[in-house]
Amino acid sequence: MIPDRVTLVEVGPRDGLQNEGQPVSTAQKVELIHRLQAAGCTEIEATSFVSPKWVPQMADNAAVMAGITRKPGVRWSVLTPNLQGLEGALASRVDEVVVFAAATEAFSRKNINCSIEDSIERFRPVVEAAHAAGVKVRGAISCALGCPYQGAVSADEVERVVLLMKGIGVDHCGVADTIGTGTPRAAQAALERALKHYPLAEVSGHFHDTYGQALANILACLELGIATFDTSIAGLGGCPYAKGATGNVATEDVVFMLHGMGIATGLDLDALVDAAAWISGQLGRPPVARVSRALLARRGVALA
Ligand code: HMG
Ligand code: MG
Repeated sequence: MIPDRVTLVEVGPRDGLQNEGQPVSTAQKVELIHRLQAAGCTEIEATSFVSPKWVPQMADNAAVMAGITRKPGVRWSVLTPNLQGLEGALASRVDEVVVFAAATEAFSRKNINCSIEDSIERFRPVVEAAHAAGVKVRGAISCALGCPYQGAVSADEVERVVLLMKGIGVDHCGVADTIGTGTPRAAQAALERALKHYPLAEVSGHFHDTYGQALANILACLELGIATFDTSIAGLGGCPYAKGATGNVATEDVVFMLHGMGIATGLDLDALVDAAAWISGQLGRPPVARVSRALLARRGVALA
């Protein structure tokens, strides 16, 4: 069942930087993206077209998209919570947009200021307009393995949102462990609900590594045949509406594990470590990624 090739969707420029407390300039974001392209990333979630009042760090979305020298073969995705966001995304010539709903009512209200059902109704015209423009729609289900406000989340609650997303024509179902409390069997149980309604190629896992469970959860998903995961360079990030949540699992850590298992990613680990060291240097701290720390130490680079 374990795939021999895995696609990693690089979400560092979006999920990683959205929560960054210090200013990150448009030029720094674009430079990071260029380094990710050079390392072989072919799926890059570059920014989000959300309200700048809610997430100020993504306010330069259009400028970031305009600043990228696009390498052929790279697909570009951005977050779009509503039609206003979609308009900006389409003007920036994206390949894919991401609508994001929560598995719990409490998180839905905190993150996008409406109920789950209302969020789905808000996405309905976004999906229609994206499809009319030839743009694919990925759905992300937040808090699928735990919620900072509700606590435990059942697989039934996840499946409810999977079905709502499917009902409005969302093409791909991403299951997200926003706060990183999920463990492998729970991850399998949640992803299996997505697999009941979406084909294997259209289901992915998005694991934050707050409790150190992300690699184990990815391995558990590989056992189901899942071959697409979101990862974040250097382990950057968190979520502004999930206090204490750390970044997504680090791209370098996942690549090291996959290559060690003989699973191809198309990514150049050394170039990823270079990109991780660069952005971490810009942010004034060492990479969170264990693999980058180890490889940089082997290169003789002193880490703080
Ligand atoms: P609202 O305040 O209820 O919406 O926010 P509104 O329609 O009343 O608009 C309020 C203001 O925002 C208006 O401006 C709108 O024009 C503006 P004003 O008239 O006050 O000057 N506005 C926008 N501006 C730019 N682009 C837009 C846009 N929409 C409205 N698209 C809304 C509702 C959904 C907009 C807001 O709650 C929002 O933007 N939320 C985004 C939250 C967010 O980005 N969270 C982080 C990303 S999700 C995530 O990290 C999870 C994920 O990684 C998976 C996981 O780990 O769980 C994907
Ligand atoms: Mg996330």
